[in-house]
Amino acid sequence: MEKFVIQGGNTLNGTVRISGAKNAAVAILPAVLLADSPCIIENIPNISDVTNILVAMKTLGANIKTINKSTVEIDPEHVNSFVVSKQMAEGMRASSYFLGALLGRMNKARVAPPGGCNFGVRPIDQHIKGFEALGAKITFESGLVEAYAHELNGSSIYLDVVSVGATINIMLAAVKAKGLTVIENAAREPHIVDLANFLNSMGANIMGAGTNIIKIRGVDTLNGTTYSIIPDQIEAGTYMAAAVATGGDVLIDNVTPKHLESIIAKLRETGATITEYDEAVRVEMHDRPKKCNVKTMPHPGFPTDMQPQIATVLALAQGTSIVTEGVWDSRFRYVEQLTLMGADIQVDGKTAVITGVESLNAAPVKAVDLRAGAAMLIAGLVADGITEVEEIERIDRGYEDVVEKFSALGANIKRIYTPEETEILKQA
Ligand code: EPZ
Repeated sequence: MEKFVIQGGNTLNGTVRISGAKNAAVAILPAVLLADSPCIIENIPNISDVTNILVAMKTLGANIKTINKSTVEIDPEHVNSFVVSKQMAEGMRASSYFLGALLGRMNKARVAPPGGCNFGVRPIDQHIKGFEALGAKITFESGLVEAYAHELNGSSIYLDVVSVGATINIMLAAVKAKGLTVIENAAREPHIVDLANFLNSMGANIMGAGTNIIKIRGVDTLNGTTYSIIPDQIEAGTYMAAAVATGGDVLIDNVTPKHLESIIAKLRETGATITEYDEAVRVEMHDRPKKCNVKTMPHPGFPTDMQPQIATVLALAQGTSIVTEGVWDSRFRYVEQLTLMGADIQVDGKTAVITGVESLNAAPVKAVDLRAGAAMLIAGLVADGITEVEEIERIDRGYEDVVEKFSALGANIKRIYTPEETEILKQA
């Protein structure tokens, strides 16, 4: 069982290069299935969620050539299967995108319900509402979601909740449907815009991505293209939060500062000095963080995927902060772990009241989900003593080279494979 072992206390200094965006990659890769000829996708993060998507695509019949660590060429020509089994879908939320992509490609899809982080109930009713509006019939057979359409026709779809996944899935299914599809109350996240740009570069006709009304005029065919994925907003935010928590000075390179606006605004409230460049941001912090209140919301609000990381910064702040979760029913499961490290946090429903403490102490903790795991890393970096973080396969789902990147900034963090190695490290 692998774990991370972190000797806390070092401030972070230097430059970290941000990888391609996980949540864009896991949408754009299945979208390749809609093309008639090969696509080259660049700036792909080397993380397990992406590996799982690529394995699923191979199983469906795609021919995948690795060009380098962050670039693949995918030829979807011989894809003839429309089934993504439970085993293929397990552990990743984005498996649901195969529903939209396969429906768009062959008018049929049979996909196991998505896995991914546990935030309480994670329904896909809005995805289904969209597929049905386009003319698909949805059934549930032997634990798989089955979508079938004789023909897909454009339609007007109002989303009852702002859903990233439903917006993406409807775009995938509608891009080759006949006529005009309008998605109202659409999600506006940077990865929605990235997917639209990718599809448009293949010959699609999508307008309005990045606003809450997206219009998709169906086209008959989509061609292969070469496309580079946007930088990961949440990976960037995680290193920014780590710089603030440790009182460091870090240049976060290869980012789109516009995608980081809400994170920059909140970290400035905690007292950080943040300088924006064209493709980088510098985060400097010299004092103990100040309290601030945060409410997560769909983009352009403060991202829910940064909630555990900023809560960890606020756990060390002077004063009491209130963090309200505005997207998921249950995203405070990590609080119990932070409390083991000495944090003073009271959760009531979707609100956490965080009374800052001067320091955290090391403890054995778990990555209860992906971003919770990121929060444990930040807590370990500042804690007194050696923190062991278990269940790190959840962190590997979304953070490329996390040990290498934090180490290059001066952190003392190691990936440990056996209990013996942990003992040796503790005695060193
Ligand atoms: C995406 O999940 C991200 N995952 C999540 O990031 C992120 O937390 C979330 O968007 C919100 O930003 C990927 O992109 C792969 P939603 P998704 O549909 O699409 C409700 C991470 O850490 N809802 O926008 O599953 C739902 O319950 C991951 O990288 C419905 O009611 O999220 C939630 O309350 C974790 N019916 C809200 O909408 C539906 O049909 C937003 O969910 C769909 C969603």
